[in-house]
Amino acid sequence: MKISRLKAKDYSIIIGKNSINTLPSEIKKHCPKCKKIAIIIDSKVPKKFVMRIKKKLKKYKIFIHFISSSEKIKNINQVNLLIDKLLKLNFNRSDLIIGLGGGIVGDMIGFVSSIFKRGINFINLPSTLLSQVDSCIGGKTGVNSIFGKNLIGSFYNPKVVIVETEFLKSLPKREITCGYAEILKHAIIYDKNFFNFLRKNTRKILSLENNTLTRSIHKSCKIKLNFTEKDFREKGLRMKLNFGHTFAHALEIQNKYSNRLNHGEAVLIGMLIAVKISKFKNLCSINTYNQIESLYRKNLLIKKFRRYLNKKEILKSIKFMKNDKKKDDEKVSFIFLKEIGKTTMPGKYKYGTKQIENLVKKLF
Ligand SMILES: NC(=O)c1ccc[n+]([C@@H]2O[C@H](COP(=O)([O-])OP(=O)(O)OC[C@H]3O[C@@H](n4cnc5c(N)ncnc54)[C@H](O)[C@@H]3O)[C@@H](O)[C@H]2O)c1
Repeated sequence: MKISRLKAKDYSIIIGKNSINTLPSEIKKHCPKCKKIAIIIDSKVPKKFVMRIKKKLKKYKIFIHFISSSEKIKNINQVNLLIDKLLKLNFNRSDLIIGLGGGIVGDMIGFVSSIFKRGINFINLPSTLLSQVDSCIGGKTGVNSIFGKNLIGSFYNPKVVIVETEFLKSLPKREITCGYAEILKHAIIYDKNFFNFLRKNTRKILSLENNTLTRSIHKSCKIKLNFTEKDFREKGLRMKLNFGHTFAHALEIQNKYSNRLNHGEAVLIGMLIAVKISKFKNLCSINTYNQIESLYRKNLLIKKFRRYLNKKEILKSIKFMKNDKKKDDEKVSFIFLKEIGKTTMPGKYKYGTKQIENLVKKLF
């Protein structure tokens, strides 16, 4: 598959093998007055890419800063540090910041860009599957606070997103599964045909077979764009993307955001719980549930997460739903499934934590 392009209202997403070669022309097009470029890079991205990019941008003054990324450093202190550095280097709004890394780098550097001198040019080069199919789209930027994840942030779009699939070759298998979780979510909530494609091709995606992978990334970005372009500031429709995430976030907090369970894994578990509740409440058919469950089973995902899919673990996590951003008044809002490709409307199903506990007790 050749390089493909998706067009959002005010930025493009360029996807495929060697798409990174478009970087110089994209900078020229979108940042014509740029003289200095700060590249903030996840230190796990292989150095050969850093060399390749530097070589392509010889005509600019380049500053490189490596970040050893983790949820713990995704905070306002790190933002301050970076901003001080950019101020010291005398960066202007017409210059450019490039973020090269996973969702942590993308979210944090997007945020830095949005507040630096009220907004400097930003280009996102996502380097994990999760960031390529999900977090690079939709303009949500931000960092964590001691009160919870992503509580400080802004909406700010990059000038362009370049999704270089070669970056994924060095990514641990576990991280590939995490990105796959969001691909699967997009199919389940919006596109039955894509879900059927995933039923046949999940193995190929997980083993990074180029054509299937590029096609799936393209499709996934397109679905996310559909929601974020219609509801940029998450007033309603966009909340459908939270499918499976209420349980996922609670499980992540319960596990103290440790390496034991990372975000994508929690999303895979959370989606299955949401589908199980949807079936129990007769919102979706048993057939819908079985199709999803069988995809999980076939790809050994149930086996992998069995220890989290039990009553005790889920009940322990429910108290952490209190801090969820999706909670207004005293209740927590859930997105459930009606059929593959169709969810309930945001705000329609809201429960207190006691009600959720009772549901889980009946179901697991
Ligand atoms: N803005 C949004 O809309 C949005 C959506 C979903 C998730 N997120 C955020 O994204 C973050 C999770 O993103 P993530 O899963 O990409 O995590 P991440 O950024 O922590 O990356 C995962 C791991 O992969 C490593 N890594 C990155 N690129 C690599 C490469 N090419 N080769 C080898 N290792 C590499 C990182 O160092 C890290 O250890 C969370 O903070 C979450 O809140 C944001």
